[in-house]
Amino acid sequence: MRERFSMVVACDLNRGIGKNNSLPWRIPGDLKFFKDLTTKTDDPNLHNACIMGRKTWESIPEKHRPLADRYNIVLTRKAALDGPVPQGVFVFGSLDDALLKMSEGPIDQVFVIGGAEIYNQAIFHEKMGTLYLTEVRSQFDCDTFFPEYKEMFTLKSTSEIMVENGIEYVFKEYQPFIP
Ligand SMILES: NC(=O)c1ccc[n+]([C@@H]2O[C@H](COP(=O)([O-])OP(=O)(O)OC[C@H]3O[C@@H](n4cnc5c(N)ncnc54)[C@H](OP(=O)(O)O)[C@@H]3O)[C@@H](O)[C@H]2O)c1
Repeated sequence: MRERFSMVVACDLNRGIGKNNSLPWRIPGDLKFFKDLTTKTDDPNLHNACIMGRKTWESIPEKHRPLADRYNIVLTRKAALDGPVPQGVFVFGSLDDALLKMSEGPIDQVFVIGGAEIYNQAIFHEKMGTLYLTEVRSQFDCDTFFPEYKEMFTLKSTSEIMVENGIEYVFKEYQPFIP
């Protein structure tokens, strides 16, 4: 497993990320980017892992979960998830427990994939690495927000502007700012 984990998020101009435990927008190109980024490994014998909060797990439509070809790591403070835990899904009571256990497994990269509660904790973690941020260049009605991040990171790359369903978006890659 790599030394640092990465984080993936899509947020709007107000750092909004969700509404009613769902995504506020439909951007297939961003979903494809997320799938490709989190699935691809350098070593074909390894898989990546996606760490998410219990609410984000529940927000994934049943037909799309578990996220295919990736270990799905769900964080909850409860004793267990509601309902059966499908194959390929692992439940942990803390981010550090999850990272420790994964460091023993056949895992290449670890991605923290949300939601807000998990981002808020993981972004300050000493193992926080690359931030892959899709900037959705509109303002949506949101009830869940990504934390303030710009002062903690250095922008490394920006894609060209893409447009889908009338929504402009850009893929950005940040590295933690080291003074
Ligand atoms: N735009 C994006 O890129 C993106 C990505 C992901 C999610 N989202 C959106 O974000 C929203 C969900 O975010 P959210 O903040 O409400 O929920 P969340 O972060 O997905 O999940 C919160 C839950 O995680 C568990 N948890 C939190 N901290 C923990 C810890 N330290 N140890 C163990 N368990 C912990 C708790 O589960 P228990 O209550 O079971 O204890 C808590 O209720 C949805 O609208 C979703 O669509 C957007």
